[in-house]
Amino acid sequence: MIQIANSDAERQEVLGLFLDIFDDIAPNAVPMTAHDDLYKPLVIQFRSDTTQQLLGAALSCRAQVAAGSALMAKSGAQLPSENDYAPVLDKHSELDLIGVRPEAREQGIGSQMLAFLETTLASRGVRVWFGNVTDDLEADRLRPFYRRHGFTVLDDGQPLPPLLGRRWVSPATAQPAYFFYKKL
Ligand SMILES: CC(C)(COP(=O)(O)OP(=O)(O)OC[C@H]1O[C@@H](n2cnc3c(N)ncnc32)[C@H](O)[C@@H]1OP(=O)(O)O)[C@@H](O)C(=O)NCCC(=O)NCCS
Repeated sequence: MIQIANSDAERQEVLGLFLDIFDDIAPNAVPMTAHDDLYKPLVIQFRSDTTQQLLGAALSCRAQVAAGSALMAKSGAQLPSENDYAPVLDKHSELDLIGVRPEAREQGIGSQMLAFLETTLASRGVRVWFGNVTDDLEADRLRPFYRRHGFTVLDDGQPLPPLLGRRWVSPATAQPAYFFYKKL
């Protein structure tokens, strides 16, 4: 069963799951509700129908460059048009984290979560959805996973092309293994 995690308690549990699955994520990797206006996160949880145990979770939210631009605009800064994300703030989302407990993998939970995210994001007006895979993950197994779900998966080292007329990756960001994206 998939539900949106709208409370801080649920998001803390999601964060706990991510901290178990991923080695190198920040302790604040899942935005709490106080920051929803800035990050517009969609946090979902997949629970066992029988035990209610949290088996999987995913987070998609505004890209860091867009949230940064929104913060600067709020503080009154005048931004050049290429750094002004206001017109595209609600039209994009970045798939930040998706994970399933090891013992629950290969049963379609990850696929169901991707489908749920896509439908929900599209209904909220999101038009481009993208993400990246870092070298510490099983990058070769994730390629077919994202391809099967209709993403364009770029070759290793290829830059993410401009989408909605904006760049989504800050030059300061460490280069991932590859990017993937999809128009909704
Ligand atoms: C990627 C992941 C979310 C998929 O969840 P899932 O419930 O197993 O997915 P599904 O059952 O719908 O699909 C299975 C596919 O997922 C991929 N997959 C399965 N286990 C994987 C793993 N450990 N690492 C990477 N991809 C994996 C494969 O493409 C697999 O298809 P295959 O059996 O044909 O090789 C899950 O494997 C996971 O949590 N991996 C570790 C965290 C991660 O890499 N997250 C993605 C980047 S944020």
